Parts: sequence; structure tokens; C-alpha cells
Amino acid sequence: MRLANETPIFPLRKGRVTRQAHVDLPEGTFEEEFARQGFFGRTTHFYRLHPPTAWTRIEGPLRPRSYDLNRLPAKPEAAFAPVGLLHNHDVALHWVAPRTMDFFYRNADGDDVYFIHAGGGRLECSFGVLDYARGDYLVIPRGTTYRFLPNTSPQGYLLIESAGEVTIPDRNQLGAHALFDPAVIDTPELEAYSEGADREWAVHIQREGQITRVFYPFHPLDAVGWKGDLTVWRVNVKDIRPVMSHRYHLPPSAHSTFLGRNFVICSFLPRPFEEEAGAMRVPFFHSNIDYDEVLFYSDGHFFSRDGIGPGMMTWHPQGIHHGPHPKAIPASRQKDRTDEVAVMVDTLHPLHATPAAEAVENPDYWASWK
Ligand SMILES: [Fe+2]
Repeated sequence: MRLANETPIFPLRKGRVTRQAHVDLPEGTFEEEFARQGFFGRTTHFYRLHPPTAWTRIEGPLRPRSYDLNRLPAKPEAAFAPVGLLHNHDVALHWVAPRTMDFFYRNADGDDVYFIHAGGGRLECSFGVLDYARGDYLVIPRGTTYRFLPNTSPQGYLLIESAGEVTIPDRNQLGAHALFDPAVIDTPELEAYSEGADREWAVHIQREGQITRVFYPFHPLDAVGWKGDLTVWRVNVKDIRPVMSHRYHLPPSAHSTFLGRNFVICSFLPRPFEEEAGAMRVPFFHSNIDYDEVLFYSDGHFFSRDGIGPGMMTWHPQGIHHGPHPKAIPASRQKDRTDEVAVMVDTLHPLHATPAAEAVENPDYWASWK
């Protein structure tokens, strides 16, 4: 029995089932999880004779999508030019490959969460300076003035722009020091800006997608002190310690890192596989009927997906199935851990792809489960 919206729901059993979801599936069956609220709400498990992804063709716009962000054209003329990829009215995903900015930027439309896929450097912002490197998340509240000073290596950041405030999820019974200790968070340090004290500086402010340039005859970052709990902060995926069960494949909500309005950001990180013989080691088949699912693959070997490498992104819209690729289920039996680093964004409302994303789409991805 579970409580959902304070209504008791008693699980019913029909036909061949397993007593414990994701463990000891009936011989010859594939498990599908049919669930509300991103596998957090009411749920039924189907034990099916075929993977629901074993389609022969799809007619119409709804299909799993994949994009190779490595193929996005560089924009050498622009020091800071986010390339929009997927968006709805709560969240927008962009790709950013900045060069040293000789101006500042301020987003008046939303909070900016950057995942540093490649490169690194120094962020200068209203609160001071903060160095960043591969695997960092940078959380920049709406209205912060900032610029990137990247190092000389190739740069590639996934920008998750949130219309609402970005927070972290309740840890509940996991305790205050899971999935990372608050002490691993770093915040900017105030520093005297000697550079350009007497030149003109521009601040590019984005509001409703348009840029307004405001000019100052002094350095725009001139705070000599600040106090409070609203600031830029940084956490590296190496400091996030995922939870897992050695007996049961946990749902993606166990890997939530940030919450936004009507979306969640999860981090899938290196971890051992479930060790019990009958326990599933790859995700169940599902269509996540309440969320669009976006996965950005950053590092390691993506055990449940063939043909996916670092810098690629998949989008599984709500209502059509996905799940492990055919070779992943037997392959997972040969391995005892995954070294993947991937960022997932699940959105309550449907996403829309931009022409820039469509230009780097792999058109055959829907057939990759054959
Ligand atoms: Fe999924």
C-alpha cells in the first residue's frame, strides 16, 4: 500500500509478476514501469514479452531524439554566445563555448546552472572570483553580473537556464550530508579588480531574450563586502556521492542534484552495479508519462546506450518508450560498475527543439533499439 495524494492505493496483481520491482523478473519477460510523477508517484509494473522499444517504424513527430553537440559550429566571433537547444517556459538548455569576455553579462530572465563538460577557468561575478574546472556545476542566481575568463583549453559548457529559482532537494532520511556535504560547496572570494578600473565597461543584460547594454565609467564589480545567503556557488560531481542499493535499481529521483520550477537536474555518476543475481542493473523500460527526459553524456562509458559518446545528448519526450539498448542487458551482467558521468534534466512540460539542435540531430536514433 502506498499513499499518493492521501488516497490509499492497494497494488493489485494480475498474471505473472515479481514480488519486488526490478528483481527476479518472470522468465522471458521485460519489465516496464508505468508511473506518475517521474517514478515517484502511483506505479504499475508490466511484465511484457517484447521490449516496448522494438518498433519497426514511427509515423509522426513523437520520437526519441539524439544530438551530437560536438558538431555544433564554433562561433569564434562571439566571446559569449549561448546556442539554444531545447526549451519550454520553465527551462532552456544551451551550449556555451566562451572565450575571454571583455564585457559582463547579467541574466534577468532566470537562474543559470552551468555544467562544465570541457575546459575551465575563472568566473568573475558580483560576489567575487571563483575558479572552475571540468565536472563543476556553477549555480548563478538571476540578476548576478558575471563574465568568464576561460583557460586556453577547449571549452564546452551545458547551460541550464531556469525561469524559477534553483534549489537543492530535501535529503530527508538520507541526512544533511548526502548526497554531498554542504562543506564541499565553494563560493566566490572578493578580490580587488585592478584591471580596467579607469576604462568603460559594458554589462549585457538579457531580459525576455533581448540584450540591453549598460555602460559604466568604472569597474562594474565594485562590491567591497557582502553578507547573506544568496550567492553564486560551485559543486563538482567528484564531490557528489551517489546513493545506491546493492539489491535494487533505484529510480532517477535518487540522483537529484537540483530542483527548478517544474524540472529537476540529476547527476548519474560512477557507482557499482547492483550485485544480487536477480536484480536489474540497467534502467527498466518506461515512457515517463509526466516528464520529458534529457540526458547529456559527459564522460565514461554509457552502459545502457549504444552509439552514445561524450558530448552527445538524448531527448526522450513523454509518452514514447525508451529503455536499455538490446546489448546493454547482457553486457551489464559482465560488469560490476559504471564509470559514466551524465547530467539529466527532466521537465514537466514538453520541450521544443531549436533549428540549431535539429542541425546536429542523429536522424536514426529512433531505430537504435533494433
Ligand atoms: Fe528515462
